[in-house]
Amino acid sequence: MNESASLKGKISVVTGGSGDIGRAIAKRLALEGSDVLITYAGAEDRAEVTLKEIRDAGGSAHSFKLDQRDPKDIENTIDYVRNEFGSLDILVNNAAWNIGIPFPELEQLTPDIWDRVLETNLRAPFLLARAAASLLKIGGGHIVNISSAGGIAPGSSSIAYSSSKAGLNHLTRCLAVAMAPDVAVNCVAPGLVEDTRMANRLPKAVSEGSKRQAILGKVGQVEDIAEQVLTFVTSSSVTGQTIVIDGGLPAAMR
Ligand SMILES: NC(=O)c1ccc[n+]([C@@H]2O[C@H](COP(=O)([O-])OP(=O)(O)OC[C@H]3O[C@@H](n4cnc5c(N)ncnc54)[C@H](OP(=O)(O)O)[C@@H]3O)[C@@H](O)[C@H]2O)c1
Repeated sequence: MNESASLKGKISVVTGGSGDIGRAIAKRLALEGSDVLITYAGAEDRAEVTLKEIRDAGGSAHSFKLDQRDPKDIENTIDYVRNEFGSLDILVNNAAWNIGIPFPELEQLTPDIWDRVLETNLRAPFLLARAAASLLKIGGGHIVNISSAGGIAPGSSSIAYSSSKAGLNHLTRCLAVAMAPDVAVNCVAPGLVEDTRMANRLPKAVSEGSKRQAILGKVGQVEDIAEQVLTFVTSSSVTGQTIVIDGGLPAAMR
């Protein structure tokens, strides 16, 4: 563990810690001394890998199964945090679901897919924040939502995904107002993040377009997202902000 650990004694929840970006975030927070609870929906084996990597590095981590489409499951998860840890300092709303449906294929975007995307990517972060609010308020906590550059400029895996992430960007601002001055709420909006399962589910035209248009000549890595989360949770005067990490796509510069 880092000698000058900045999150020593802090409790963090990272949803989707079985995923590529969630794993990097959980590892980064744990390396800074936080005790980290990761959630997974179906991939317990991948959650175990995250736990092992954290523990091998000297950090402390636990896992909990959460299907965040289910409001009851969300309540159970935060109850577990309350009972096991008694406090919560950092909530990273990272879990999300997507499916590649090209924007012009309107008929393919069915009500069921729309609901699954919006319930997972937008309603759940709100319900998690709502459930965790009283715990987060105790010590001056942080929420970091993981959105997408597709929530700023139309693009990414589907209209539903892009809309859910636009909603998450605005939910960040709304929650920042609602939870001030006790809790800071910020958002990281990645563009394409290389070598992730989610990036691999994007239509090829979208992923290749991102790489071509990035003015820095490269797109983000999972570590870049994790580093920005750490920056937010160690800041005391930043709230309501969304920062895009995409290698500099002109379309997402708003
Ligand atoms: N990768 C990219 O290029 C990229 C770009 C922009 C934004 N993002 C955002 O970054 C975040 C992480 O993405 P990633 O690349 O790490 O994706 P990922 O590897 O596919 O991981 C997604 C995570 O979300 C969890 N999840 C899915 N449905 C869930 C549900 N109903 N309830 C609870 N958890 C659920 C998954 O759990 P199980 O695996 O256990 O089922 C997994 O841990 C997401 O918010 C995504 O939108 C990613």
